[in-house]
Amino acid sequence: MSESKSSRIGGFYNLTLADRLQQLVDLGWIDDMDLQMLSRQTTLTTQQADHMVENVIGLFALPMGIAINFMINGRDVLVPMVIEEPSVIAGASFMAKLARAGGGFQAQADPPIMIGQLQILNLNDPQNARLKLLDKKDEILNKAAHADPVLQSLGGGPKDIEIRIIEESPYGKFLVLHLLYDVRDAMGANAINTALEKIAPMVEEITGGKVHLKILSNLADRRLAHAHCTIPTDQLGFEGYSGEEVRDGILNAWAFAVKDPYRAATHNKGIMNGIDAVVIASGNDWRAVEAGAHAFAARSGQYTSLSTWEKDSQGNLAGSLELPLAVGIIGGATKVLPMAKFALKLMGVQTAQELAEIIVSVGLAQNLAALRALSSEGIQRGHMTLHARQIALSAGAQGDEIEKLANELVAQGVIRIDRAEQILQTWRKSF
Ligand code: MEV
Repeated sequence: MSESKSSRIGGFYNLTLADRLQQLVDLGWIDDMDLQMLSRQTTLTTQQADHMVENVIGLFALPMGIAINFMINGRDVLVPMVIEEPSVIAGASFMAKLARAGGGFQAQADPPIMIGQLQILNLNDPQNARLKLLDKKDEILNKAAHADPVLQSLGGGPKDIEIRIIEESPYGKFLVLHLLYDVRDAMGANAINTALEKIAPMVEEITGGKVHLKILSNLADRRLAHAHCTIPTDQLGFEGYSGEEVRDGILNAWAFAVKDPYRAATHNKGIMNGIDAVVIASGNDWRAVEAGAHAFAARSGQYTSLSTWEKDSQGNLAGSLELPLAVGIIGGATKVLPMAKFALKLMGVQTAQELAEIIVSVGLAQNLAALRALSSEGIQRGHMTLHARQIALSAGAQGDEIEKLANELVAQGVIRIDRAEQILQTWRKSF
């Protein structure tokens, strides 16, 4: 859909909401139907919501914004982001602009292989049970393939099994069978859990043991997504900071996250600001992605940075990010939530892998935004300007008052609710 359009939209930030939408129509990014939907106060109805989860009493809305400037694998993309935190969308957009100067983001995602786990208890000889299971691998895979003939016909389905023996646990030895399952364009939880339940009786028969848990693993480390980018050093300088200073500051900040889990948690949270926002926008399960990301960050035994930053041979800043991304474009909420359907259409993704490539690129951009700010002016300056708007809203500002009050709070250098309320009262009294 979006092959020839540019994601560089000058002045987008300063437009009114209505003008922003109109500009997206004029540039061909969205059509009139999208415009109508986006102009509505709510897109999901309570009736639809009532079919999604239990005990529904209402809807909970979050802002959706668009990150601009992204070029990923040579293609311009507008990235929908759903998030309540100010600065995130602006940060991603700005870093995407810097990355464009170095050719944008290059990203790849692995084939969508998920891991399903069976825990097998009550085995007298786990090693022997392991060998028996490996011997019957083809039969097990064949059984699992029958769980979802549609997926099978699309080239997905079970691909392999792996067996691990857990020698020591608080309750003794047990065996773990991993079913490697290609879920194609789905997130895959339902497909794999169904397949696991299907093979469990056969596994019990082969081993003589008792299959206990049958559930996918969120450490989806066969389904990694990777992005890298190069930022020319001259793009990094601003307001009294040279490009080299900012670059070296980013490298030192990254070194901190590599070595210190206390810093790594915050560093990775910054990455997840970008990742979750797109995962949520696309109707995917962000808790699954969070769980996978943090488990992956601790894979060496020490929790560390998910990203890598280095200096390339020309002295430019080169960054990369790799993490498991179990996201789909079919199934689950992706096709139920109107805004998720819109988000997928806007990104123009044809496969789950393409979606993962966009998400991992946004994560890398977000990490860069945080490290650049932290290594120079600090995050509060940019953050506070946007935070001031939220304070203005909480203080009860309406319409034009919101922007005016936010600017006043920034000018006074006091971004607090009590001051916002005082200013608002003074203004209102004087009318
Ligand atoms: C705030 O939401 C995210 C940061 O704390 C990330 C970081 O410290 O790298 C700014």
